Amino acid sequence: MSVRRSSVQQLLQSQELEREVVVKGWVRTRRGNKYVQFIALNDGSTIHNLQVVADAEKFPEETLKDVATGACVSVRGQLVASQGKGQSVEVQAVEIEVLGKADPEQYPLQKKGHSLEFLREIAHLRPRTNTFGAVLRLRHALAFAVHQYFNDHGFYYIHTPIITGSDAEGAGQMFRVTTLPDDHPPRTASGSVDYAEDFFGKQTNLTVSGQLEGEIAALALGKVYTFGPTFRAENSNTARHLAEFWMIEPEVAFNDLQDNMELAEDFLKSLVRYALEKCPDDLQFLNDQYDKELLSRLQFVVDNEFQRLTYTEAVEILKTAKQKFEFPVDWGTDLQSEHERYLVEKHFKKPVILTDYPKDIKAFYMKLNDDNRTVRAMDVLFPGIGEIIGGSQREEDLEKLRTRMQQMNVPEEELWWYLDLRRFGSAPHAGFGLGFERLVLFVTGMGNIRDVIPFPRFPKNAEF
Ligand code: 4AD
Ligand code: MG
Repeated sequence: MSVRRSSVQQLLQSQELEREVVVKGWVRTRRGNKYVQFIALNDGSTIHNLQVVADAEKFPEETLKDVATGACVSVRGQLVASQGKGQSVEVQAVEIEVLGKADPEQYPLQKKGHSLEFLREIAHLRPRTNTFGAVLRLRHALAFAVHQYFNDHGFYYIHTPIITGSDAEGAGQMFRVTTLPDDHPPRTASGSVDYAEDFFGKQTNLTVSGQLEGEIAALALGKVYTFGPTFRAENSNTARHLAEFWMIEPEVAFNDLQDNMELAEDFLKSLVRYALEKCPDDLQFLNDQYDKELLSRLQFVVDNEFQRLTYTEAVEILKTAKQKFEFPVDWGTDLQSEHERYLVEKHFKKPVILTDYPKDIKAFYMKLNDDNRTVRAMDVLFPGIGEIIGGSQREEDLEKLRTRMQQMNVPEEELWWYLDLRRFGSAPHAGFGLGFERLVLFVTGMGNIRDVIPFPRFPKNAEF
């Protein structure tokens, strides 16, 4: 009977030594002398490599020449206690089969220490680096933790559409979805493109958020969340924006702004705690390699209460700050990321939840406060990131909502179904959106959002 493949992770943790094992993976390095060769093997199951020892008597250089950095190999051998430093076990090779060669003259990851910018250009190979292995394992763990948190707390996972017929949320520029021929599309009498002839019989776009559909579900199932891709065609070439990103949007019937803040804080802390518990090796690597304060910052977020204050209070603090800002602060204007980061990193030195923003800088669906000037909005601001969550209590009153839509030029006829929710069994409710990549950015300590998603989409970039 042939031995089944073990993962590197399983072998490194194994207490059962002196047995035959089979392991497969990619060669990170091969070094040694004329008596013995050491192959560092990684299969993605962990950041750590397995040391494979090949005696020269059995494996002369000629048979090992293709066992080069980047090659894929299958190794059969004895799992034994390691005599060397740096690992407790190793595999004494009996048989090495090269499954896929990697020509050292051409393999782009032959040498270590490539820049993250260069690695973005070889997005098909960068998952084989320690850094991206760690980032991708953390990304998985965080996605899993999202589902686990909501499942444990009685939320239902709702799949909201990716192609949408409404472009009313106003969260940003949308990508059009069409099957009309681009050389000569059908035209109306007045000469504009006739979308009545298009696939769906109307203009359609990629969604910018699942919130409005999430509200439909919340007003039937109580506690729901979405977790899906969202698309924004804004031309923001920053380290915090993607044109395609994943968003998590819980929506809860009967919650007010206070409940919403409590949910957001508890949720974020539980996600960070999960990563600390489940991914200690990957986090230690990123801490040592990129950001010496990463682990202490994550622990700090888990251990401390977020600072809560209103937009109006924040503006007062910013106006009296000693720091010079590029953009002036005045009540009524949107805060820039320099302002948000001042509050989080300099003033409070902890995560901040800002609430009750001026109505004119927030979306039409946010619930109006009694002052008639502010809405029950909340943004959660994180160190090094800025805004990680945006959300609000929703306007549940039909007439107030219609007034806001008219004032903000949101077409009522397109959102008739959204208004119906306020006509039939309306209820107070609240929710928020967490940008998944901003969360992964925070937890990994990476500097650029393009390095925490396998295939980043940003202006002038969709190669892979
Ligand atoms: O603040 P936003 O635009 O809120 C909404 O879309 C609401 N519908 C959410 C809700 O209440 N259900 O986006 C929410 C979060 C932001 O706080 C940010 O973390 C992330 O989504 N985000 C982006 N992440 C990466 N690239 C972009 N271009 C992003 N735009 C927003
Ligand atoms: Mg926002």
